[in-house]
Amino acid sequence: MHDDHAPRGAADGCDSCAVAAESRRRFLRDAAVMVAGTLAALTAAPVSAAALDTRFVRAVASTDETKSYAIPATDAVNIDRDESVIVARYQGKVYVFSLACPHQNTALQWDSDVQEFRCPKHHSTYTPDGIFIDGRATRSMDRFAVKHTGANVVADLDQLYREDEDPDLWKAAFITL
Ligand code: FES
Repeated sequence: MHDDHAPRGAADGCDSCAVAAESRRRFLRDAAVMVAGTLAALTAAPVSAAALDTRFVRAVASTDETKSYAIPATDAVNIDRDESVIVARYQGKVYVFSLACPHQNTALQWDSDVQEFRCPKHHSTYTPDGIFIDGRATRSMDRFAVKHTGANVVADLDQLYREDEDPDLWKAAFITL
């Protein structure tokens, strides 16, 4: 007796059912290959650089013009709010930036979620080494002249370089570790 709830032809092995079953098998096999490929791509993806820590610091020594900061032990963004200065260690180099956004001098912030500097006023963004990415600003973050002295980076706060006005000095304003 025929079961009215069974798919038509299920009991007697119709050709169309065999085709449907084969299509389903092929689909499942192709899907499995796609998932395996995606997992392999994710596993093979390069490991991104470690996230930069951020903290507030003060100069360890100073003169009328200079401020000395301890070189961070690892990649980091340190902010001296008293002097409106950012000390950033990034990929073997140390930079000392003005905290002021180059657009209209708003204090920049470090966005640890995306590992960028961000201006809260008009949302200009910059890489950890101060390169302009996007927004209303028209240049990268301003850099102070720096030198390496022992375990410190010494910034000359009288020598602030702008990328558009002093491109060569701006490019050279970092120390290499
Ligand atoms: S003040 Fe920073 S983008 Fe305008």
